[in-house]
Amino acid sequence: MPKKPVALIVLAAGQGSRMQSDLPKVLHRLAGAPLMAHALAAGRALEPERVIAVTGHGAGRVGKALARLDPEAQTVLQAEQLGTGHAVAQALPLLEGFAGRVVVLYGDTPFIRPETLAELAGHPADVAVLGFEAADPGRYGRLVTGPQGLERIVEYKDADPATRAITLCNSGVVSADAALLAELVRGLGNDNAAGEYYLTDIVALARQAGRRVDVVTCDESETLGINTRAELAAAEAAFQSRARAAALENGITLSDPATVWFALDTAIGRDAVIGQNVVFGPGVTIESGAEILPFCHLEGCHVSAGASVGPFARLRPGAELGGDVHVGNFVEIKNAVLHDGVKVGHLTYLGDAEVGEATNIGAGTVTCNYDGVGKHRTVIGANAFIGSDTMLVAPVRVGDRALTGSGSVITQDVPDDALAVGRAVQVNKPGLATRLMEALRARKGNG
Ligand code: UD1
Ligand code: CA
Repeated sequence: MPKKPVALIVLAAGQGSRMQSDLPKVLHRLAGAPLMAHALAAGRALEPERVIAVTGHGAGRVGKALARLDPEAQTVLQAEQLGTGHAVAQALPLLEGFAGRVVVLYGDTPFIRPETLAELAGHPADVAVLGFEAADPGRYGRLVTGPQGLERIVEYKDADPATRAITLCNSGVVSADAALLAELVRGLGNDNAAGEYYLTDIVALARQAGRRVDVVTCDESETLGINTRAELAAAEAAFQSRARAAALENGITLSDPATVWFALDTAIGRDAVIGQNVVFGPGVTIESGAEILPFCHLEGCHVSAGASVGPFARLRPGAELGGDVHVGNFVEIKNAVLHDGVKVGHLTYLGDAEVGEATNIGAGTVTCNYDGVGKHRTVIGANAFIGSDTMLVAPVRVGDRALTGSGSVITQDVPDDALAVGRAVQVNKPGLATRLMEALRARKGNG
């Protein structure tokens, strides 16, 4: 049977006032990505035909971030936050013409697994709600079940003591047939303790209409929502410990797992070796067998097989390291392609550059890529040798097999096979050092 098409609704209109922040809650970073990127990534695994985010607080910024994360996603504004049911109602016009299953999730619930969403999306019940056994049910909505599955959800504020004693709680994630969901949501009222349109009331409405409603359960850790900075920090810790375990499981050596930090999208090949205190920002791919030595920071870069980086190196966005490249200590690389076998051992900045195969970059080399207004490129050929402390004033090209003398300031292109020297000529003045020192000491003695 072919899979039913899926549409995703991500609720992200809430203020998140307990974050004490000017930044909308769903844009706070978890594992290098905006909070909402996590739920969105899980949802995208369902290959949804439509993705609709409901925005409200900070809608402009949230919309912009969403467009970067998923250019095909649509946003709809919920000008006033009148409840989760009201939020879903705002998304209904964008579901016109869609026949399939709708999955509703929250932008602030990062750990929901794609497998769990798939189970909900493919569930035979007309409405399927994701629930969990809560260690501390607190203020979660309670799931009231009976012989025919789920009967209703009662919000904490509206629950009597017997209902509050139920430990099976509502995660907030729900899936239903598109046409049915629209009909149910239009029937919602706000006659309850909070005066809100509760999405959770669709359960009782569906049951009244003779529909089948069921619960899918998952582990509580999947439903964790972020409301405070402390919860964000705890979620970061939880993400990192899972990412470390997964890396070890996938055949990656971590010399001291607790000190390695991953991003949501970090991709590392088998047999890579990662030393102590390495931080991966977003957008890093490391091929099999590459080695990242201790105390490196990497972001938006690619490291090919056989390459070694660090200790104490920084790879910034657009750094592309070819096979067997060596990048040593106190080297920063940004928007630069280093072809196979390039060596950059020490104390160097390469930005907006391309370096040909097997070229050696001496200690203290700097591509002077910024003139205060614009950025310029440095292109260095293959098998070249850049002497220590060379300043490459971009735009500039250095040819294949060319050589620059140590301490040179290279302002003009260097042809293939040429030696370029651009520095003051040395002059030796015999005996002057001693005479100068004597004069200085004599002056101090008189003073
Ligand atoms: C909701 C559920 C509750 C469940 C809990 C799980 C309802 C009525 N209650 O309660 O059963 O146990 O989640 O965490 O659904 N949002 C909007 N617009 C709104 C209101 C909320 O976009 O008008 C978004 C929020 O940004 C948030 C999510 O919906 O991402 C949940 O809203 P929240 O106010 O946190 O719901 P709870 O009261 O926690
Ligand atoms: Ca909540």
